[in-house]
Amino acid sequence: MRNYCNSLTIKDIDREVNLFGWINNIRIFKNIIFIKFRDVSGFIQILCKKNITHLWNDILLLNNESCIEIFGILKIKKNTSFDIEVLAYYINILNYSISLPLDINNINNNENIRLKYRYLDLRRNSMLDIIKLRSNIKFFINNYFIKNKFIEVETPFLSKSFSEGANSYKVISRIYKNKFYSLPQSPQIFKQLLMISGIDKYYQIVKCFRDEDLRSNRQPEFTQIDVEMSFVDFDILYNLINKLIYNIWLNFKNYKINNLFKKISYSDSINIYGTDKPDLRNPVKYNFNFSLFLFKNLFKNFNVNNIKTIIIKNVFNILNINLIFNFLNNKNIYNYFCIYIYSKKNNIYKYKIFGNLNISDDFVKNIICYLNLSINTFISIIILNKNFNFDFLLNLRNYYCNFFNLFKKGFYPIWVVNFPMFFYDNMNNISAYHHPFTMPLNITLSDLKSIDNYSLLFANSYDLIINGHELGSGSRRIHNYKFQEEIFNILGIKKKYNFFIDSLKYGAPPHLGIALGLDRIIMLLSDIKNIKDVIAFPKTTSGLCLLTGSPD
Ligand code: AMO
Repeated sequence: MRNYCNSLTIKDIDREVNLFGWINNIRIFKNIIFIKFRDVSGFIQILCKKNITHLWNDILLLNNESCIEIFGILKIKKNTSFDIEVLAYYINILNYSISLPLDINNINNNENIRLKYRYLDLRRNSMLDIIKLRSNIKFFINNYFIKNKFIEVETPFLSKSFSEGANSYKVISRIYKNKFYSLPQSPQIFKQLLMISGIDKYYQIVKCFRDEDLRSNRQPEFTQIDVEMSFVDFDILYNLINKLIYNIWLNFKNYKINNLFKKISYSDSINIYGTDKPDLRNPVKYNFNFSLFLFKNLFKNFNVNNIKTIIIKNVFNILNINLIFNFLNNKNIYNYFCIYIYSKKNNIYKYKIFGNLNISDDFVKNIICYLNLSINTFISIIILNKNFNFDFLLNLRNYYCNFFNLFKKGFYPIWVVNFPMFFYDNMNNISAYHHPFTMPLNITLSDLKSIDNYSLLFANSYDLIINGHELGSGSRRIHNYKFQEEIFNILGIKKKYNFFIDSLKYGAPPHLGIALGLDRIIMLLSDIKNIKDVIAFPKTTSGLCLLTGSPD
């Protein structure tokens, strides 16, 4: 019977074993050869003695990575009580290997070589672990949805190009000259059509294709856990997804995520964290109320949104205050002022101030009183330049977080809800922020028709963020055809969607959904920084498959 390396235990001592796999490495001594043998399950040491001449001679012909079958007896390693090894008596050489272009025992191989010889790169243990993890997680997710009475439906890959933010990949039609199919950016339209069909709980683990600029967490083909439900409120979906995430982390990382998945509106997230993807491991927050206080009492001539304040408590002994000084002398900052309260005696505070804003001593006392501050508090007040770079808001929080050593370990999920409905690009072209099927918040059709600044509209949409990574995104959908028609009109894309508007006329149910990025979940779980490392056959950042040489 065939054995696997990791299925052999001390209980099998003195039993015959039969293994299939590869020579990871070979060490030849005078009378003994050690082979580090590898199969899909792990490693085991194979021992070959010189007195078995045919075996000895065969092994001398072998290179690392040759493919072999071993027959032997399981033994306890000399001078150990638990380690096992196989004493070989016969080897069947299944295939020789030429020398490898990469070192499979090393993590620092050149990335292009790794991608060109991906089938060898996947022989590396750490890569194999990810492939196994991915397979196990997919099984777990399938189980989860089936247990919750969801129906898995496959949706087409050859379809039409819909407006979902990126460009679509085109596939030439052989039969219809000058016509193309599009590969789906997501199954969005089809999952909504399934709701109209009456399937009220749909899910699919599905490949999506997007022709967009690639990044460390973006691939042109990636996998979504796609979900859609009819007749339910957001809370049902929120609980369903939270429970899934909680259980994935528990099962595959042995980590208990805090059960309270926070929720924050997009506007609050921008005001408090300076980003719509807050990483809660960084506890530094902007204090909007304090900014408002300063605006009303001191900086009336500035835009309140450009006044940013941060309060950090329990700060002991600021050393290197000059570093903060250097950081704040930044092109994004018009003026700044920092206060560090270091002692209080007889109700008198002692503090250091630095910065180039004009704030009187009396007003500093006013601030301390207004904020009811205690000692060991650091306050940062900045006025941003009019054309500040938005990323700076995140950089500043990260800077203080690192400076004061406040970064927390762990996993912190947060739902950011109610994103803007639309945005205008530099050319003043309007687009949907999430996608055109998203229901706007609190607006009637007649109000929608009369509005002229669409950037003020918010949407019934939500993103799930963990540690600053967008893991999933979804929304309540428009199920009223007149409403949907109006949104398509606003976006100037109605013509393309007549079939969809028609579909909503046949008793379309109220529905909502979400899609989670499977690759990103695996990245986060395994602390992997680049999405390529969680995909068996990924593309380079410039969209090439170095292994097959596509596109060609
Ligand atoms: P969205 O476009 O936000 O929503 O995508 C959902 C999730 O998919 C993942 N993702 C990606 N992962 C890797 N590489 C990419 N290029 C990539 N693009 C997206 C992210 C993201 O949060 N149809 C809607 C969902 C819905 O409304 O139900 C959609 O696709 O984790």
